[in-house]
Formats: sequence, C-alpha cells, structure tokens
Amino acid sequence: MAAPDTLEPASIRHRFRRLTTARHPPLAAMSRDHMYDHGRMMAPGGMLLARMMAQHLSPCPGARILDIGCGRGQTSVMLASELDAHVVSVDLWTSAQERQLLARQAGVADRVFALQGDMTRGLAAGIAAFDAIFVMQAFHSFGARRGMLDYLARLLKPGGRIVIGQTCFRDDPEAIPEALRDDDGWNTEYARYHSPGWWRALFQRGGRFLVDHCAEIPDGDIFWEDHALYCGDRAGWSADFMAQHGWILRHIDRSRKNKPHLTHFMLLAVKQGL
Ligand SMILES: C[S@@+](CC[C@H](N)C(=O)[O-])C[C@H]1O[C@@H](n2cnc3c(N)ncnc32)[C@H](O)[C@@H]1O
Repeated sequence: MAAPDTLEPASIRHRFRRLTTARHPPLAAMSRDHMYDHGRMMAPGGMLLARMMAQHLSPCPGARILDIGCGRGQTSVMLASELDAHVVSVDLWTSAQERQLLARQAGVADRVFALQGDMTRGLAAGIAAFDAIFVMQAFHSFGARRGMLDYLARLLKPGGRIVIGQTCFRDDPEAIPEALRDDDGWNTEYARYHSPGWWRALFQRGGRFLVDHCAEIPDGDIFWEDHALYCGDRAGWSADFMAQHGWILRHIDRSRKNKPHLTHFMLLAVKQGL
C-alpha cells in the first residue's frame, strides 16, 4: 500500500484543492471545460484569470488592445467579443493562421489581427498607439529584459494601461532549490519567476508607469492545483499522464509546504507622460 505521502493519483486528488464558486463567482457561469478550453489553455488560471484581468479594462468600443503571449488566442477573442475591442494578438509559438481561424469561428475576425513573432524583437513599425496591453502567463519570458518596459510604454497611448496576470513565487528565493530543478527536460523558466514585490519595483523604476495594483491573486496557489486536477481528470490519471507530468505535480505538491511557494500575481500599471 502507498505511504500517505507518496505522490499517487489518489493522494493528489485528496490533497490538491479546487477553485470554488464561493470564492470566485465568475466560475458559476463557466464549466471547467470552458475555463480551460478543453485543455487547450496553456497554463493555470485559464479563462477565469483572463476575466479577472479584463475587469481592469473597461469596455470601450474600438479600443486598441495588444494581447502578448496569447497562446492559442482565446484571450484575444474574449477581449474582442466582450470588450468590443480591436485586438492585435502576438505569440511566438502559435501561428497567426490558427488564431485568425479561431477569431473567424467566434465571429470577431474583423476585430482580431493575429501576428506571430517575438516581442523581444519588437513589432513592425507602425503597430502602436494601444489603449491597453494584456499579457497573461507570458510576461516573465520577456518582461524583465533591459529596455522592454520602455518599449511597451512607447506602444501605449498616454494614459494607456498594462495588465499582467501570471505565475510567480510568493517570495524571491535566494536560489532555485534542487527539488525544482528536476523538471524532466521542460523549460520551467523558474529563474525568471519573481515575487509580486519584485515586479512592482521593476515597474516603479524609471517613472514610465504608475503601478495601480500589484499583488498575489487570492488563491493564486490553488490556481496551480486546480489546473493539475483538471488535466489529471481529463487524462483519467493514466500512467502516461503521471509519467509525463509527474515532475510538475511534485513541484506543486512541494510548494504547498515549502518555499518558494508557487502562486500567481496580477499587476495593473498606467503609462505616465506622453
Ligand atoms: C504559458 S504560454 C501562455 C499562453 C496563453 N496566454 C495561455 O494562458 O494559454 C506562454 C506563451 O507566451 C508566448 N511567448 C513567450 N515568449 C514570447 C515572446 N518573446 N514573444 C511573444 N510571445 C512569447 C509563447 O509562445 C506561449 O504561447
């Protein structure tokens, strides 16, 4: 019989917590398949996180929003259909065609302009003057690079906003512990994870942005656990699933009791000056 601490499907299902409607009312209007787009969302939080972020952007028909690191494009469709915005959707890994097709199927092809590219190389000249920049589960990959905040500020209109929602550590570790280095060859990018306080300080330097909000998301740690439970349930907790995802399940489980704690944060900042 497995020891109580062994990481078996049964113990994960027993230990990991699910997000609740009581704490997150938007879940009442969202099935789990909708929240995670049948497993096509690439990270925890899914459409719940997207909705929490979008609440910081008031509907403004015709507003221009840049959706960076949009993955398969679900957030771009949501911003176009629910905020009536014109969205430029940029992603490194997924093709523009795939995202344009999604926008067409959702009836918002006229309001989503999909591009494939690397934000560290910049957008084509002339793609600018945004009312808002939206970055979900991608900012750590490029946001702390030298000059990036200056560049993003230049892409915004005066008074434009940036909203970021994503994974982070609750506190900055001195070093990534050995247990989090066992990643089965995946690029976890933990070296680019920081605490909400670290990200706030980055945005406060230089005077380009006024930080309106930057804090851990309530239940940000449970976002990880809920996503793991969804993926496991979908896969029937098969041996293949456990073999492929065992490393991240171990990280999440470890993080429940040990630092650095895996969680999520949200940042909202407003561009200062012209
Ligand atoms: C973890 S996925 C999140 C995708 C999506 N936001 C979601 O939650 O499903 C991170 C995404 O960021 C994109 N990305 C990473 N670095 C990027 C860069 N330098 N420029 C543009 N996109 C980038 C990747 O292509 C990937 O789709």
